[in-house]
Amino acid sequence: MTKTAAIIGGGVIGGGWAARFLLNGWNVNLYDPDPQAARKITELLANARYALPMLYDVALPPEGTLSHCSTLAAAVTDADWIQESVPERLDLKHRVIGEIESHAPRATVIGSSTSGFRPSQLNESMQTPDRLMVTHPFNPVYLLPLVELVPSAKTSEAAIQIATEVLTSLGMHPLRVRREIDAHIADRFLEAVWREALWLVRDNVATTEEIDNAIRYGFGLRWAQMGLFETYRMAGGEAGMRHFIEQFGPALKWPWTRLMDVPDLTDELIGKIVDQSDAQSGAHTIRELERMRDENLIGILRALKARDAGAGALLNGHEARIRPARNLDATPEPITSVARTVPIDWTDYNGHMNESRYGQVFSDAADDMMARIGADLDYIAAGHSFFAADIHIRFLQETQAGQAFSVASRVLEGRGKKLRLYHEMLAQDGSVIATAEQLLLHVSLKTRRSCVPLPEVLGKMQALAAAHADLPLPDHLEGA
Ligand SMILES: NC(=O)c1ccc[n+]([C@@H]2O[C@H](COP(=O)([O-])OP(=O)(O)OC[C@H]3O[C@@H](n4cnc5c(N)ncnc54)[C@H](O)[C@@H]3O)[C@@H](O)[C@H]2O)c1
Repeated sequence: MTKTAAIIGGGVIGGGWAARFLLNGWNVNLYDPDPQAARKITELLANARYALPMLYDVALPPEGTLSHCSTLAAAVTDADWIQESVPERLDLKHRVIGEIESHAPRATVIGSSTSGFRPSQLNESMQTPDRLMVTHPFNPVYLLPLVELVPSAKTSEAAIQIATEVLTSLGMHPLRVRREIDAHIADRFLEAVWREALWLVRDNVATTEEIDNAIRYGFGLRWAQMGLFETYRMAGGEAGMRHFIEQFGPALKWPWTRLMDVPDLTDELIGKIVDQSDAQSGAHTIRELERMRDENLIGILRALKARDAGAGALLNGHEARIRPARNLDATPEPITSVARTVPIDWTDYNGHMNESRYGQVFSDAADDMMARIGADLDYIAAGHSFFAADIHIRFLQETQAGQAFSVASRVLEGRGKKLRLYHEMLAQDGSVIATAEQLLLHVSLKTRRSCVPLPEVLGKMQALAAAHADLPLPDHLEGA
């Protein structure tokens, strides 16, 4: 049964949570008293619907239903998960959590998005503190997988277990924080960097843009893929971590940092930062900046996914869990061999899918058809495969980044060494985007010569060809 998440507070973070739940197939009940909340969430959802599916090489589950609730009670009464994302004020969080507690089912876990409060501060006046924990995400919540999971001493292991399963099922990485501490783990770094940056601007050492360049052209790239310690291990050269600490450890005692001081946020300093930030980024609206950020993150995450590294490895794990199981029966319908979205890195300068990617789509479709007749990775590892010998592609419609499509595939001929396939790449409205007729030849990977498949694969290939034999041929193939 479809599960329901109650999102209490639908701003930047609550909206991001709503998008992540909806796009992973959950229904969402949203409560936010701001009359502008519905408009804001619609805009945020449009960005998320464009961005999140592009990360995956399979389709996400069907989207859940979003309900705007007029009271908090209505939002939480049937909720399987509750995420509190109201402004960062302890009195407000206490009031909202108290109200959630009195209307939500007893067993439902309550996660708080708080950036800085400890869970033992949030649960001070709760009757059921065992079900509350901090689940602190990162903006944009629909794209970044990290969520810091911070239990209090009163949080039950059962609630932690549920939270771990729910968050993992959303493609996130719940990082369990061992001991509660103000601002958890990641925001302590961000606070340190932010303090340093404010001093550098105040003392005219650097502008906001120069500081951003110092991050994005250098260590920001390193951190996205290996973090801090693995990076520093290499900085120590062959002698590794011990050498690195011996070499740079003494510098920690030199006055390289002003970490413990905070510059006074005078009108002058604030004005300076705002002016420099306007000069740096004022030509773009926030929505435009968000779109740029999302597209860059997609490119970075997909590159890591191809390397099975960092957050990309996490995406691969999630993808394996949501990939639909193949129906291996030979039935007389075309087979959906691919269902996914066109990612940003498949498109050219004008946002259209690049011609070469059609070849990839049909090659992926052929891989899926091969797996269905038993020519899967194990079969290939055992020394047999099919090689593409010929392909005819017809391009009928343009395809854009973010567009969902599927491929309907059928066997035209499955005899001896020959496997002839026909694929139709379909838009969501069922119209045909492109077609491909493809000839694959079975080969021995030892001799590199064509040969008849092993009996089991041959049998399945013949059965599928027989099942598809009576499907009507498209006009351009008639008589072929
Ligand atoms: N902005 C970030 O980068 C970020 C990152 C991680 C966590 N957080 C945390 O997430 C929480 C929300 O931050 P945000 O940035 O989304 O703030 P925000 O101001 O964008 O959104 C807060 C929303 O809560 C609504 N709200 C106010 N009172 C409410 C009530 N009584 N019931 C329901 N909704 C109410 C507001 O109308 C607003 O839409 C904070 O605890 C913050 O520390 C923020």
